[in-house]
Amino acid sequence: SRNEFKQMFEAHALASNFYNHLLLNTVEGEEALQYLEKRGFTRDSIEKYEIGWSLDNSSALADLLKRKGFDLKDMERAGLCIMKDDGTGFFDRFRGRIMFPLQDDNGAVIAFSGRTLSDSKQEAKYLNSPETPIFEKSRILYNFHNARLNVRKTGKVILFEGFMDTISANRADILNSVAVMGTSLSDTHLLKLKRIAKEVIICCDGDNAGWEAAKRFAVMAIKKGMDVQIALLPEKMDPDDYISEYGADAFRNKIIGNPHPYMSFIMAYAKRSKNLSNQNDVLQFIHEVLEELTERTSPVERDMYIRMISDETGISKDAINQQFLKMI
Ligand code: CTP
Ligand code: MN
Ligand code: MN
Ligand code: MN
Ligand code: MN
Repeated sequence: SRNEFKQMFEAHALASNFYNHLLLNTVEGEEALQYLEKRGFTRDSIEKYEIGWSLDNSSALADLLKRKGFDLKDMERAGLCIMKDDGTGFFDRFRGRIMFPLQDDNGAVIAFSGRTLSDSKQEAKYLNSPETPIFEKSRILYNFHNARLNVRKTGKVILFEGFMDTISANRADILNSVAVMGTSLSDTHLLKLKRIAKEVIICCDGDNAGWEAAKRFAVMAIKKGMDVQIALLPEKMDPDDYISEYGADAFRNKIIGNPHPYMSFIMAYAKRSKNLSNQNDVLQFIHEVLEELTERTSPVERDMYIRMISDETGISKDAINQQFLKMI
């Protein structure tokens, strides 16, 4: 109901403010604050994104919500607290995590993602709010609300996997980025972006999941009629790692400033897992690239990439062309 929506929005605004206060102004938040500072977070970015801290082993938020008159059963449905097994009360859903508020297109907080302080692998690195009446993951892109104006102005949007990447990019004065928050890009996400930008630069993590996601995202965005390019990172690095290691200027100039057209990305992808001094790998490489090329209708593009395959492999353009003609 309307009232339920309103309560959920209010509770999230309150929670976000509370977590942010705990991070910035309490002893309990100090370790998390130090962690964020070590990762390059500035006071500005902590405030801009209202990043926070949820207390360990706590019912602090549930207690606050109760004091403010919220029904904790409703707050459980909102994903903010959980009823104890014995039914005697509620504890907080997020405990001992750095809190990243997720906002809707109007900038209202509608959910959270909480990150552990360590990378111990004992618990999931990120814990997210469940889907609720106000939070559908397939509709929300991190930073969409902040980036919208700049995306419209530049006609271009940069698409990352992680919100850490978007926050780092902001530090690098790149104001037109959003994050999928994982690798499940939806048609709804893309339509939102297409309405405000013609061009998308996809910049996924430099690992297997990231390359695979980049290809999937690119195919989807091309189908939607967007101008698609893919920015590539060194192996094992994500955008945030790259900015920490090489700085904002390098990221802006070498990575975002030097994106690949789809076919050029495909060649890099096909090459990534192969050793082109091995015959089998050469055959596989040629096959993979030509398979993609059969989908392309531009004769100029075909000629260009057949020449590039020839340059990469040392196989004659003629032979590659003959093979290509057999495939179409
Ligand atoms: N993600 C998630 N749950 C996980 C892992 C990832 O929801 N267990 C989402 C998060 O939104 C995250 C994104 O997927 O931002 C990308 O994941 P990953 O690359 O693993 O995280 P990073 O953004 O690189 O986070 P960090 O730098 O803190 O490791
Ligand atoms: Mn990743
Ligand atoms: Mn990452
Ligand atoms: Mn990481
Ligand atoms: Mn990262």
